Amino acid sequence: MESVAAGPGPATYDRIGTGYRLICRPDPRLHSLIGQALEGARTVVNVGAGAGSYEPEGADVTAVDPSDVMLDQHPGVRKVKAGAECLPFPDGSFDAAMAVMTVHHWPDVRRGLGELRRVARRQVVFTWDPAHRPELWLLEEYLPEIRELEYARFTPLSEVVDALDAHTVLTFPIPYDFSDGFQIAYWRRPEFYLDPVVRQASSTFAQLAPSVVEPEMAKLRADLDSGAWRRRHAELLDKESVDYGYRLLIAGETFGPQ
Ligand SMILES: C[S@@+](CC[C@H](N)C(=O)[O-])C[C@H]1O[C@@H](n2cnc3c(N)ncnc32)[C@H](O)[C@@H]1O
Repeated sequence: MESVAAGPGPATYDRIGTGYRLICRPDPRLHSLIGQALEGARTVVNVGAGAGSYEPEGADVTAVDPSDVMLDQHPGVRKVKAGAECLPFPDGSFDAAMAVMTVHHWPDVRRGLGELRRVARRQVVFTWDPAHRPELWLLEEYLPEIRELEYARFTPLSEVVDALDAHTVLTFPIPYDFSDGFQIAYWRRPEFYLDPVVRQASSTFAQLAPSVVEPEMAKLRADLDSGAWRRRHAELLDKESVDYGYRLLIAGETFGPQ
């Protein structure tokens, strides 16, 4: 593995990254959407690559991440330890750059997005809009502390769109059986939040003290046992997917058929 100066921020993933692949299984519907956005790109740099989810099949992918624990779980052969803010590649090195659920970890989002634009001709970024409503019931009813953490680290979508100069913004409603371990994944399967292994895969949950989380999870368990949760959220139980503010942004060149 090539090693260059890492940006700040990998400590959380060095701590929670072990076993990440068990819970964070790429969702095929999101994979397909990202694949379409990257269509025609033969060389791709995946920034904040983690374990390599959502990389396009058939392209030459270079994985970049500042966390050793995450890079160790990446199955690829081209792996570079670096932060998004200082990518160790010459201008225009790649057909496309991708960044999936990582921008909120970058200490300087504008600089990182500028780096994506510098090293690649197309940019594909998947992120969450903190201003979007509705929000997950978990925040309102059990853990408002999550809201505070999320607001502190997610950049408003309009700023990400602006810094990237995105020409396309696509909505990705979260399916009820979403397979990746995002905190939102269990909006219709509340019992999953009771599992400490599931919670540990979420960087937000992992930052909360057990003394905050555990009493609220006991409350959720009681609400599930009594049927109170189901009565409160009856309208969710019929839904196949909900728009919770997840967006795919596309910027730069579009490539024609190969
Ligand atoms: C939620 S994971 C997403 C991983 C992968 N993109 C995926 O979709 O599964 C966030 C990743 O961002 C990485 N990260 C943290 N700080 C970063 C930075 N400054 N630059 C690039 N990546 C960073 C973490 O190490 C972690 O692998």
